[in-house]
Amino acid sequence: MMNLSEKIISTTDFLKEKTNGFTPEIGVILGTGLGGLLKDIKVAYEIAYSDIPGFVEATVEFHSGKLVFGTLSGKKVVCMSGRFHYYEGYSMEQVTFPVRVMDSLGIDRLIISNAAGGMNPDYAVSDLMIIDDHISLFLPENPLVGECIKGDRFPDMSAPYDAEMIQLAHEIAAENSFDRVQQGVYVSVSGPALESKAEYRLLRLVGADAVGMSTVPEALVAIQIGLKVFAISVITDMGIPETLTKANIEDILKAAYAAEPQMTTIIKGILERIG
Ligand code: HPA
Repeated sequence: MMNLSEKIISTTDFLKEKTNGFTPEIGVILGTGLGGLLKDIKVAYEIAYSDIPGFVEATVEFHSGKLVFGTLSGKKVVCMSGRFHYYEGYSMEQVTFPVRVMDSLGIDRLIISNAAGGMNPDYAVSDLMIIDDHISLFLPENPLVGECIKGDRFPDMSAPYDAEMIQLAHEIAAENSFDRVQQGVYVSVSGPALESKAEYRLLRLVGADAVGMSTVPEALVAIQIGLKVFAISVITDMGIPETLTKANIEDILKAAYAAEPQMTTIIKGILERIG
C-alpha cells in the first residue's frame, strides 16, 4: 500500500507523462452548474478522472468528471471539471487528493467555485459571493488530521483567502458593473441533506453568510501546502428560515447558470492580471 506522499508522486508522474510534462501555474475547481469556463480554455489535454490513478469517480456532478490542461487568459491552467465530496462516501483524503496533485504538478494558486445557499438577508439568488473567511468546525472531519506531509502542522488561518485576488475580483466586478457581488463567510457542511430551518438559523447565528458542501476541505489543504487561494460562491437558493420553501435542484442549477457568465468574467480577469 502506498502512503499519501507516494500516491501523489505516482499520480503526478502519470499526469506528466500523459501531458508531455505540462506544468500548470494555476488550478481551478469548477462547482455545480459552473462548468461554462471550460469553453474558454484552449485545451491541450483532457483526462477523465476514471483514468487517473488515485482519483475516485465524481458521482453527482452535473458536468463531466475530468481534468483539463490548457491555456486560459494567457495562463497555463489545470482545471477540475467536477469535484469529489465527502457526502459521496469518500474520505477527506480522497476529496482533497486532487489539490495535492495539482500542487505537485506545479500550481502556486488555486481558484475554487461552488454553489451555496445564502443566509445573509441582504443576499439574493444568483448573487456572487467572494469568500473572505470560512468556518470548518461543522465538517465531520478536518482534512488536515493525520500525518502532515507538507507545510505547517498548525497552519495559520488568520487570512485564509488571498487579499490580492479578492481585490482584483472587486475591481473586475466594478469595471463590468456587476452590482450583485458580495463578500462573506462560507460555512462548509457535509451534506447531502440540505439544511432544516433550525440549521440555517444556527449557521447564520454563528456568523456565516453562505453554506455549502465543498470548498473548505480543498482550501484547508491548499493553504497548508502553501497555495494562494481564491474562492467564490454562486448563491443558488436562500436559506432564510422565515421564508424557506421546498428546495428544487432544477432551480439551483438555473440560478448557477444565470450567474455563471459573471463568475467566469471574474475568474478570467484574475488570471489575466496576476503576475
Ligand atoms: N445548503 C447546502 N449546500 C448548498 C445549498 C444549501 O442551501 N445550496 C447549494 N448548495
